Amino acid sequence: MKRRQMVKALAGTAALPMVVGTAGSARAAAGPAVKDDDTLVFDPGNYTTTTAAVTTDSGVKAVTYRFYKAITYVAHPVDVTYQTLNVSVPVEIDGVGIDASDAPILFSNAVGGYMPSSTANATGIGRGANPQLALASGYVVVEPGARGRSLVDAGGVYYGVAPAAIVDLKAAVRYVRHNKGRIPGNTDRIVATGVSAGGALTSLLGASGGSGQYDAYFEALGAAEASDAVFAAAPYCPITDLEHSDMAYEWNWGTNPLGSGAQVDQALSTDLRGQFAEYQASLKLYGKHGFGRITARNYDEYMVRTHLEPSATRFLAALADADRATYLAANPWITWADGKASFVWADFLTHVGARKKNVPSFDAFDFSTPETNLFGFGTVKSRHFTLWSLRKATGNPSARLDADLPETIDLMNPMHFIGHRNPGRSRHWFIRVGTKDSDTSLTVVGNLTAGLENLGDDVNTFMYWDGGHGANQDAPAFMTWIGKVTGYTGCTGYSR
Ligand code: DHB
Repeated sequence: MKRRQMVKALAGTAALPMVVGTAGSARAAAGPAVKDDDTLVFDPGNYTTTTAAVTTDSGVKAVTYRFYKAITYVAHPVDVTYQTLNVSVPVEIDGVGIDASDAPILFSNAVGGYMPSSTANATGIGRGANPQLALASGYVVVEPGARGRSLVDAGGVYYGVAPAAIVDLKAAVRYVRHNKGRIPGNTDRIVATGVSAGGALTSLLGASGGSGQYDAYFEALGAAEASDAVFAAAPYCPITDLEHSDMAYEWNWGTNPLGSGAQVDQALSTDLRGQFAEYQASLKLYGKHGFGRITARNYDEYMVRTHLEPSATRFLAALADADRATYLAANPWITWADGKASFVWADFLTHVGARKKNVPSFDAFDFSTPETNLFGFGTVKSRHFTLWSLRKATGNPSARLDADLPETIDLMNPMHFIGHRNPGRSRHWFIRVGTKDSDTSLTVVGNLTAGLENLGDDVNTFMYWDGGHGANQDAPAFMTWIGKVTGYTGCTGYSR
């Protein structure tokens, strides 16, 4: 099958197209001309007014907002449970009226585990710190759903496997852009965010903006013909660069014990670790502050100097003297001098302790991992997406990946677009991960950061000391950052 036919076949496997729009509701007077049959027109009059009590650093804020619910964002949806978005627009914060018509738009996905994500039945804005604080900061919040890996139709076809989730999120961005002048907020100041798999998709939204590589998928879905570039991206603990994650994981956590106390198969681990050296060399990344080329041999030092010591330093500096003394007494491997923490990588690894995943962590031989399902196809639930696991699992040293996989893998990997210096990518990045997060290698954030820095982008990366998977410890700082990078000064709300 040709790729376009394949895309159409996949796209047409579930629910029939649905017409969106609410009869009798007001149309915006302004806005670009659209065809009468354009089903992708946002209706500014079709909202309910609701309230939220948002807890902020400066107390609880009472926010009144307009809630636009379950808007289908493609003309030919495969499954309207997932291909819809919600929009929340603040109109009053603590009794003060605000105008968010030119505010930045936080595009916040709630994807987890590469599973389907629906916002269609929500009765208000999501409860995560980022959407909540964004609303209380006077920003517009868009919350898109997306198909995910487990979705299967009556014919047994997996219709949410890669690249469905990123295609959906990009289609949702296109919908927002297409509705410039109708949808509240500045459609040229979209800031994407998400956590874990949602963080991976966020990094991909940021890196792949404007790429033509997804066009066949957009055509099949009837996505709006508008740019899917986002202004800024804020991935949290992104589970990305999947085809290199097994090797990266062994480089990072290879000798750490499992929760049971046992070590993973060290022969497999060492084999993968060796591959990481080749991969890292192929990236040709340079560390900041004159560090030079980042390699598998010096990445421990790079990680400690660039990310981990600044993380520990900020953590310790914020503690009261007595608490800092207690922490340092319990962690004598950390040296605290002149207001700075220092330590070596091996001690850091011991401190983190148990690794979360076995070897190989992502492309498991027995298809037990989410990622093998993510790369399923048609009626095949799970597939190997690395040659190494495919050959080990099948015992066939000359086995090849299915022909469609290299392209699909690229469509899921921000490093692919960074490697090609995609001109439509976000130029502003806010990247976060916890130092105790062993859901993937810390080099994933390390390489994403260095790759973008090497292109000259504005990258604000920070690792939360002792933070686990999904940690978000500085949401107020993220709100301030959004205001700064977007140049938005029009808000009277929180943190401005
Ligand atoms: C997520 C976590 C994982 O460990 C993983 O492999 C994929 C996704 C998540 O939390 O979204």
